[in-house]
Amino acid sequence: MKTLTPPAPKTGPEIFQNVGKEKSPIYFGRGVLSLLPGILQDLDFDTLYAVADDGVERIHGEALRRTLHGVRHQVLVFPAGERSKSLQTFEALVGRLLELGVTRRSLILGFGGGVSGNLAGFLAGTLFRGIRLAHVPTTFQAQTDSTLSRKQALNCHGKNLIGCFHTPCFTLSDTDWMATEPRRSLLGGMSESIKNALIRGGDFHDYLVEHLDAAVAEDAEQLHDLAHQSILSKLAILREDPTEKGEAVILEYGHTLAHALEMITSGRFTHGECVGIGMVFNARLSRRLGILQAGDEPAAEALVARIGLPTRLPADVSSEALLEAMRLDNKRRGRHIEFILLERVGRPHRGPHGLLHPVTDECIRETLEHCR
Ligand SMILES: NC(=O)c1ccc[n+]([C@@H]2O[C@H](COP(=O)([O-])OP(=O)(O)OC[C@H]3O[C@@H](n4cnc5c(N)ncnc54)[C@H](O)[C@@H]3O)[C@@H](O)[C@H]2O)c1
Repeated sequence: MKTLTPPAPKTGPEIFQNVGKEKSPIYFGRGVLSLLPGILQDLDFDTLYAVADDGVERIHGEALRRTLHGVRHQVLVFPAGERSKSLQTFEALVGRLLELGVTRRSLILGFGGGVSGNLAGFLAGTLFRGIRLAHVPTTFQAQTDSTLSRKQALNCHGKNLIGCFHTPCFTLSDTDWMATEPRRSLLGGMSESIKNALIRGGDFHDYLVEHLDAAVAEDAEQLHDLAHQSILSKLAILREDPTEKGEAVILEYGHTLAHALEMITSGRFTHGECVGIGMVFNARLSRRLGILQAGDEPAAEALVARIGLPTRLPADVSSEALLEAMRLDNKRRGRHIEFILLERVGRPHRGPHGLLHPVTDECIRETLEHCR
């Protein structure tokens, strides 16, 4: 584990404007947590309710409480892990919030990784039909990916099947948190950066190829830069389509299989690890359908392998179980399961059905077998 660096931003905080009509600034940089009291001063709320998993609360709860000194607040804790993205945890948190006196003037703060952010986001988006939300993401994944999205979701029968769109009034992404992030979580988070490179190509892809190894070696500066570039690459996609219902559906590259694998193996693999395997599968499927150029399939797999993530399906998960779980994918429009496919690394394929391509079960089954 690395040591925490002093909270003095080296180059000053950067502020990105998130996309969409609502104002939703992202304060990014080392030590930006210290900006929190000042930002909160400008918001008129009665109580701040932070929602954190028990792992993050144990390591960083005190730092948050110290920063919130003088601000009326409560910290609500739930058990860490994907299983908590459930209706049961949601209901327990709603009960606790009501007991504590939450009102329409309250502010919900997601503190932690993508699970805390999604739970806080769904709570804020649905409680009293919507109250204000803010994020303090503490994982690479949450800083560079999930908190940029307005999509908030819970797992119910399948992955992310219940959800809403809700925009945070601000996000405070302090890269110093990454110093304590477990390595497995950190590397898993980078899979979404690889995804952005695979679907967008261009400068971001070249940057990633050049700098990935140093970030994997946990060079703090390189990690900070990779997070910065990853945020910009995702915002560029969201800018055209903030609700991810049109062109930004390419962000789902690799996620059809990833979500099925994540649900079946329930906690054995991280979200990022499942996305890694899902991206390799999509490249293989694209090649099998004659869409992806030869040479680009191994290139896609090599990028996932470079961050040390698994690229093959576990032997004990059957293709039938994966097919069944993929039938519950929330992108599906008709009879067939649908995927984002690539023509080249950096170029998604647009076919007669748009960017999502229905694929027969037989072809999916065969490709799954080739991913073992
Ligand atoms: N559009 C979206 O909303 C979107 C996009 C991508 C992913 N997601 C969701 O995000 C979730 C995955 O998020 P995640 O990868 O951040 O996992 P996570 O929230 O489960 O966090 C991973 C683990 O790291 C610990 N942790 C977090 N920050 C830490 C820190 N700074 N130091 C030490 N430990 C720390 C947590 O306690 C947890 O055990 C999935 O549910 C996924 O579906 C949502």
